Amino acid sequence: MQKGRADTVFGSDYGDEGKGRIVDVLLENGDYTIACRFNGGPNAGHTLFKDGEKLILNSIPSGILYKNIINYIGSGCVVDPVHIFDTEIPRIKAFIPIDGRIKISALATAITPTQIFWDKATGKMVGTTGRGIGPAYADKARRAEGKSIRYLRLCDILAAPEKAGEIIKKNYEESIKIASALGMDIEEADDINERIDRFIGATLELDRNGLIEKDPLWMTKMVEDGKNVLMEGAQAFGLDITYGAAPFTTSSNTVAGNAYVGGDLAAKYHGKTYGVAKAIASRVGSGPFVGEFGGRKSERYCDEKDTEGKPKYLQEKESELYDTNSLLKSDDTLKFGIGLRMKTGEYGATTKRPRRVGMPDLFRLAFAVRRSGADKLYVTKMDCLKEYANNTLYEGKIPVITGYRLNGKTIDYVPASAEEQYDIEPVITLMPAIPDISDIRMEKDLPPQAIEMIELIKKITRCPIGGIGVGPERNQMVFLEKE
Ligand code: GDP
Ligand code: IMO
Ligand code: MG
Repeated sequence: MQKGRADTVFGSDYGDEGKGRIVDVLLENGDYTIACRFNGGPNAGHTLFKDGEKLILNSIPSGILYKNIINYIGSGCVVDPVHIFDTEIPRIKAFIPIDGRIKISALATAITPTQIFWDKATGKMVGTTGRGIGPAYADKARRAEGKSIRYLRLCDILAAPEKAGEIIKKNYEESIKIASALGMDIEEADDINERIDRFIGATLELDRNGLIEKDPLWMTKMVEDGKNVLMEGAQAFGLDITYGAAPFTTSSNTVAGNAYVGGDLAAKYHGKTYGVAKAIASRVGSGPFVGEFGGRKSERYCDEKDTEGKPKYLQEKESELYDTNSLLKSDDTLKFGIGLRMKTGEYGATTKRPRRVGMPDLFRLAFAVRRSGADKLYVTKMDCLKEYANNTLYEGKIPVITGYRLNGKTIDYVPASAEEQYDIEPVITLMPAIPDISDIRMEKDLPPQAIEMIELIKKITRCPIGGIGVGPERNQMVFLEKE
């Protein structure tokens, strides 16, 4: 019997590398029938551009803009039915009809209103997205305590909707008790009953609309039937719950191999692994970030909140406050970083938070690439490297991290602990700034500075580069080697 295969796309930095747009590009040129998300939930924000229009996806795979692609959310994901039904689907429908092209595994864990409430109440230290991801995965691992069931998959809600509502309400009441016993300063949700009703209602509506796939072998059957799959990772290797700097991680395994757990397919169908890295290094939320412009000051600055508890330095606020060109010429690393963020639009797609920005870190990238077994890398935002051209700090060059030192000694691995990562001194190689390449489409037209950077990335990561992003639009790619 002819069999299909699955290829996997994963983020190799700290998220927001442009995985969504690379999935979109690979689907255009490939022979895939299914795009499959295998981890995470609506904490992701994957941006697609089509003819100048922007679509941000949170849970739905990035194949949704193609009429011939089925978009499957695997059982390894955590799913918020209300968000999907009330926010994401209407957003997508403004672009393209859905026509039965979304399938969600009935085995995916639901994110309940209680878990969203709990994430908002407790996620501050890590700087979570507040979308209930951590509590949903944690409750899945807890299963049941005493007489209280902790988690619900979509299939469990469909089998007994009323009982599911009671479980969520009970969990909410217990959470409130725990919070007050711990003296936590939390605001109770005065509309919890309505939220629970809407949650159950949205789950039932997803089912009535044929979006919930009950057969755990659906993916297997499709691939047995010769169909090819593109697996789409959310978040990134740097945020992997095991490999990231605990506790500053997300709550799922983001390493590429997890596609064959969360994506409901056996590993024997695996084809190629594609890493996505970004030339403007960024991180949103807390945790160590070697080479961050402005170091810990930048981490604190990006975390500042206004009087209503919302992020203080949103994009509009920074553009009101600062003049980008003078920031980029500043000899203060914090100011330079703010300028780079503003020029390159590094603000969260989902939360709108300012992303902390730093030097491209090829040493860490090599770790992500090798552990994930990447066959090819795609490097986005290469066009943005032109912003380094007039800087004072690095004399118009791009500082690139090519090694780590810890306690005065060169090390040949990335230490896992946050304590150690905060103490790392980066070893820097200065590379020439790259002129504007946003209009280039062919490898032969790239300037020598871009080629030099590509060669350095290949050398340090020991990985071929499939293409570079020279702008956010679908066609703003330069492919470097054909498979
Ligand atoms: P994802 O979460 O990995 O899918 O990435 P996000 O969508 O959160 O963030 C990537 C951002 O970079 C989005 O705003 C994209 O439109 C933008 N982007 C992606 N590739 C490029 C590129 O090559 N050049 C530029 N200038 N922007 C890009
Ligand atoms: P995509 O798929 C960037 C970060 C959060 C926080 C930490 C834990 O768009 O690349 P969580 O809500 O997952 O418990 O938050 O992980 N984070 C992301 N950062 N891109 C993402 O997704 C992220 N998803 C989570 O900012 O630091
Ligand atoms: Mg994103």
